[in-house]
Amino acid sequence: MRWIDSLEEAAAEKLPEPLHRYFRQGSAGGISAGEAVAAWSSYRFRPRVLTDVSTVDISTTVLGTPVDLPVLVAPTTMQRQADPGGEAAMSAGVAAANSVMGVSSNAGTTFAEIGATGAPWWLQIYVVRNREVTVKMLDAAVAAGARAVILTADTPVVGRKEDDGPTVWEVIQSGHLLANLDESQYTAEDLGKADDLTPDVIGWLGERTGLPVLVKGVLRGDDAKRCVDAGAAGVIVSNHGGRQLDGSISTAQALPEVAEALEGTGAEIYVDGGIRRGEHILAALALGAHAVFVGRPALWALTVGSSDAVTRLLGDLGAEFEHALRLAGCQRIADLTPDLVAR
Ligand code: FNR
Repeated sequence: MRWIDSLEEAAAEKLPEPLHRYFRQGSAGGISAGEAVAAWSSYRFRPRVLTDVSTVDISTTVLGTPVDLPVLVAPTTMQRQADPGGEAAMSAGVAAANSVMGVSSNAGTTFAEIGATGAPWWLQIYVVRNREVTVKMLDAAVAAGARAVILTADTPVVGRKEDDGPTVWEVIQSGHLLANLDESQYTAEDLGKADDLTPDVIGWLGERTGLPVLVKGVLRGDDAKRCVDAGAAGVIVSNHGGRQLDGSISTAQALPEVAEALEGTGAEIYVDGGIRRGEHILAALALGAHAVFVGRPALWALTVGSSDAVTRLLGDLGAEFEHALRLAGCQRIADLTPDLVAR
């Protein structure tokens, strides 16, 4: 069996059942979560022949940071519950692969410890009702060397999970839930997600941090354009792994519209959700993505084999992408164009 495909089952053997369920599940009926992988697999290619692919190069830059491969790690929570090293272990694995680590605002490891692993990292932020909470987190992230801010925009309220059995919150033994936020200082109202955000928040985040801002959770071309017009350096086409509005279109389906809307703006487009193979990365980059993120596969790898498995996951996906690039008749990422994908 392909090692990447074996990871979830191996992780399920190590994780308490509610935690495995929490990592895997989508919201509501699980429709978007369930169709994400198949949506990428449904694309068909129009490979080029008789091109020289004796040497190929899959390195690129993401918001100015050089990376060895166009596969980054998506921000996810509860990494300390997957591996005692948590986000620091994930990040060490990312550093060894020369990639970029997305760090959740709900990380269980301090930004300073994550930064110390040497991986370039981007802070994912949920803007909450009490802006002081958000400001403190932004300032701490800047001090610990974050290189970009990812504003998660698809979560005005948290997607409803239909749990059957105890929830993850009922079984967590260890602390390390929110290492970068002192919950005891604030009320639930303070910490509630701001559900009145407008594109102005993008400029505010950029000014406060001096960092480029990516807006995550964009599924429409018109929204992508609004974000970039308001100062975003780019967008992440995402449906949050199918964990927000269930029935949202797949990211494989949304990406071409976003790429078309942002053509000529210089904004960088990223995509996540269901990317599990080199061929999925090939399709995403041909359709206009600058790089992709992986969420659950990185959590499974972290659970199964800590940093080393995270490095192997990224390395294997990079090797598969490189192979697919050769088979498509392309030498480098810049050669990938939408006509490589049948429409
Ligand atoms: C997430 N995701 C997420 N996104 C975010 O912006 N902040 C967060 O804290 C989290 N937390 C989180 C936890 C878990 C367990 C999962 C599975 C996902 C969404 C994540 O960044 C990404 O969008 C998806 O995981 C991508 O889909 P795949 O690769 O998991 O299919």
